[in-house]
Amino acid sequence: MNRELRKTVIAGNWKMNLTPSGARKLINELKPLIDGVTGCDIVVCVPFTDIEAAREACEGSAVKVGAQNVHFEAKGAFTGEISAEMLKECGAEYVVIGHSERRQYFGETDQVVNLRAKAALAAGITPIICVGELLKEREEGITEEIVSMQTKLCLAGLSCEDVKRVIIAYEPVWAIGTGKTATSDQADEVCGIIRNVIAKLYDGKTAEAVTIQYGGSMKPGNAAELLGKYNVDGGLIGGASLVAGDFAAIVKAAGQ
Ligand code: 13P
Repeated sequence: MNRELRKTVIAGNWKMNLTPSGARKLINELKPLIDGVTGCDIVVCVPFTDIEAAREACEGSAVKVGAQNVHFEAKGAFTGEISAEMLKECGAEYVVIGHSERRQYFGETDQVVNLRAKAALAAGITPIICVGELLKEREEGITEEIVSMQTKLCLAGLSCEDVKRVIIAYEPVWAIGTGKTATSDQADEVCGIIRNVIAKLYDGKTAEAVTIQYGGSMKPGNAAELLGKYNVDGGLIGGASLVAGDFAAIVKAAGQ
């Protein structure tokens, strides 16, 4: 984690959990627990239907609100989809894109992830782009190739300035919701690989400026070690973000 060069960001990904009243309750529990923490940005990425309630509940606190997906077209005949402008007006400042659950259950490709990232950036929303290998790919020794390819395709066509506004989340699929965490060295290694890809695509200075999170069973007990690594600039937290005390403890491990 290198605060001098880039932002540390702790983001909760609530996935498909909580109604607006549940969102208000969780945020109201969280706020006093993280009051006064500095040194990291704090985000909760909530279901679409919770965005407005979450934004209202977060008012006056350091907690920002994000969404969990965005459609890539600005408007039109796309039944069931939500545009970046819609998110923006409701108060979302971040959006998770290309999460492995969307890749696995909804057939999302790196090309679609790239389009979504561009739409978010155009609306002034920070995309949190997820990449990560499957267990089989790690076992086959192709983690570097897979994650490098995902990073290149997801960033295709973005300018240097755009890329500095992007957050990348390295989420090894085998560590998501399994209780199995990557070791801090594994997380640091792959976040470093992603940073090298960005350095080659752009330049070293740009690569050093990009926030690269780790996600996958991050919890209070392992957060400090993961977040202590040079290339790990924060976390994307699933299960533990639904428990105010646990999420606050992770925020404190990242903050000052
Ligand atoms: P868990 O923290 O529940 O493993 O989920 C990680 C994740 O998918 C965050 O996007």
